[in-house]
Amino acid sequence: MANIGTNIAEAISFLQAGDVIGMPTETVYGLAGNALDPDAVLRIFSTKNRPQFNPLIVHGSSVEQITNWVRDFPEPARKLAEHFWPGPLTLLLPRSNAIHDLLTAGSDRVAVRVPNHPITQKLLSQLDFPLAAPSANPFGYISPTTAQHVADQLDDAVPYILDGGPCTVGLESTIVGFAPDGTPEVLRFGGISREELEAVVGPVQKVAPVSAQPEAPGRLSSHYAPTTPFVLGKIPDLLQQYSVEKIGILSFQTAYTTAVSEHQVILSEAGNLQEAARNLFGAMRHLDQLGLDIIVAEHVPTHGLGPAINDRLNRAAAAH
Ligand code: TXA
Ligand code: MG
Repeated sequence: MANIGTNIAEAISFLQAGDVIGMPTETVYGLAGNALDPDAVLRIFSTKNRPQFNPLIVHGSSVEQITNWVRDFPEPARKLAEHFWPGPLTLLLPRSNAIHDLLTAGSDRVAVRVPNHPITQKLLSQLDFPLAAPSANPFGYISPTTAQHVADQLDDAVPYILDGGPCTVGLESTIVGFAPDGTPEVLRFGGISREELEAVVGPVQKVAPVSAQPEAPGRLSSHYAPTTPFVLGKIPDLLQQYSVEKIGILSFQTAYTTAVSEHQVILSEAGNLQEAARNLFGAMRHLDQLGLDIIVAEHVPTHGLGPAINDRLNRAAAAH
């Protein structure tokens, strides 16, 4: 049974003993372990039931600490790090010898990030090793954005969950790699929008994973998926099409008076995409727990965090 608490010393003692714990970040909660200890890394994979070909992000306390785990920190990467760290940005950089194959699934590039969360900053700065951490959900399910979400699914599998309150961003980090000529390439849009990235490094392109090993996250269709059937489209049309009794609605800003209000979540009445991102995963989990026959949802506007939100919605729908 996991203890949920805010005791950093307790978290540290578990991590030093090779255990994995629930850890808050500004994006989503992570399942954290000593990145330099192969047994702890294996424990992360097994706790999440995650295939080992899907590599892990290494979290550090500062750019200086991260430089120990990478061989090279090219100029555009440095610029992004200086601008967005600590924050919801993950960089793919050539790994140093300290980085085990297990962390990168054999790739020469390691994913690194400095998270922006006060309690986790404190934790990381008191450790002499970085923390490997995937999102703390069972493989294929929705990422957790509160300590309770972690406990709901991994309770018996982790001894401790560090409680940092609800995540302020609510979407996973944006992942950026670099082409041989230094051009930034986005593998996953998340907490940093295209507009924010481009304001710092100029045009970026979105790339699909190239190797046989799925380099980008969630290429597997069941990613981020609720277990209740989940359908995307124009909500009024879907409400007509699926005239089942127990129908859930996940809308961006509109309230649907024809539906049972308890079965409805509005992501942001004000139409604010940051607020919608913060509410998204919690709303999906909530609706998934109501025992509904189906959940209908709609895309959000395509600026700012919109594309990242729509990506998660598409993946949720792709599983059904
Ligand atoms: O916001 C986040 O990024 C959260 C918090 C906990 O930091 N972490 C997270 O981890 O979302 P995860 O494992 O659920 O998603 C990270 C994705 C993986 O699916 C993996 O495909 C990709 O990052 N990744 C990690 N290392 C990589 C590498 N060396 N090369 C290519 N992709 C990598
Ligand atoms: Mg994940």
